[in-house]
Amino acid sequence: MKAVVYTQYGPPEVAKLSEVPKPMPKDNEVLIKVHATTVNRTDCGFRSAEYFIVRFFAGLLRPKQQILGCEFAGLIESVGSKVTEYKAGDRVFGYNDQTFGGHAEYLVMPQNGTMATIPEGMSFTEAAPITEGAHYALCNIRAAKIGKGTKVLINGATGAIGSSAVQIAKHLGAEVTAVCRTQNLELVKSLGADEIIDYTRQDFTKLNTRFDVIFDAVGKSSFGKCKPLLVEKGIYMSTELGYMSQNPFLALITPILGGKKILFPIPTTSKKDILFLKELVEKGEFKPVIDRKYPLEQIVEAYRYVETGMKTGNVVILIASGNN
Ligand SMILES: NC(=O)c1ccc[n+]([C@@H]2O[C@H](COP(=O)([O-])OP(=O)(O)OC[C@H]3O[C@@H](n4cnc5c(N)ncnc54)[C@H](OP(=O)(O)O)[C@@H]3O)[C@@H](O)[C@H]2O)c1
Repeated sequence: MKAVVYTQYGPPEVAKLSEVPKPMPKDNEVLIKVHATTVNRTDCGFRSAEYFIVRFFAGLLRPKQQILGCEFAGLIESVGSKVTEYKAGDRVFGYNDQTFGGHAEYLVMPQNGTMATIPEGMSFTEAAPITEGAHYALCNIRAAKIGKGTKVLINGATGAIGSSAVQIAKHLGAEVTAVCRTQNLELVKSLGADEIIDYTRQDFTKLNTRFDVIFDAVGKSSFGKCKPLLVEKGIYMSTELGYMSQNPFLALITPILGGKKILFPIPTTSKKDILFLKELVEKGEFKPVIDRKYPLEQIVEAYRYVETGMKTGNVVILIASGNN
């Protein structure tokens, strides 16, 4: 089968289109013909190993899993002898940041893995980007207990994480102020934001408003700058480590001190989360934002674009044709 393989950490060019053996599902696994996948910041992080800590999970000297692609949507081609939950012909989507494998024509997943059947009427292209940004968003939203009436500011509201966070926070009943650039004001409004700040005209850290939670979904601010905008026991969260890795460090200290604090939850995902996102999609309360689409053959260009840090939502990679 065709797959994009990387045998060393490095720039986008280390990802090479190759021929590799088609995987065989074990008794409790399903074989999925991948129709669509994505290139996202998680794939970039594992490909570049820019943060050394990645190597503790991915392989110290070289990557152990050599096919990236943590998101996928496709058709189950066959199932192992002990699989009861799925059958050949089921359309599924999911997330796998343990063994990855979506940047290939075929992928195996355990039947109890983090996947679900694709919501009725949704194409593979639309389903592939449901999970990556949304599971990070969900993780932060839960850590901060964002719910009905929470006043939350989301910086980077058009990224994969930010655009998911706006929609999920609105679903939970929060009052959302979103930050984006001028071209994306309409998009962010369509995601449900109550107030929108155009960062090319106004520095959100100078606002007089107070928030229960500030979630910097692109990691461009700091706790120090955002602190004056937080209510007494307000919470700051960021997707980046911050200057000199201060965010995880402050997340250990500030909760003990009792005032305004940083939270830096370790992202996890479960089948329950995937089903929760599926339900939101079915209710029309969550729709992943899609920016560009590339064929598998142009994955290096896709990586380069994603690494500009300026994609809007998600970048989809089309693999097999049919209902894309
Ligand atoms: N290392 C990892 O494994 C990993 C994994 C996932 C995520 N992350 C981190 O999480 C963050 C978000 O990821 P993502 O995929 O959601 O990001 P993304 O989709 O790449 O974010 C792009 C968006 O960021 C916005 N943006 C850029 N500069 C901005 C600024 N100065 N102020 C406000 N918005 C700005 C842009 O919005 P406008 O077009 O409106 O300007 C653009 O739409 C990134 O920092 C990423 O590194 C890391």
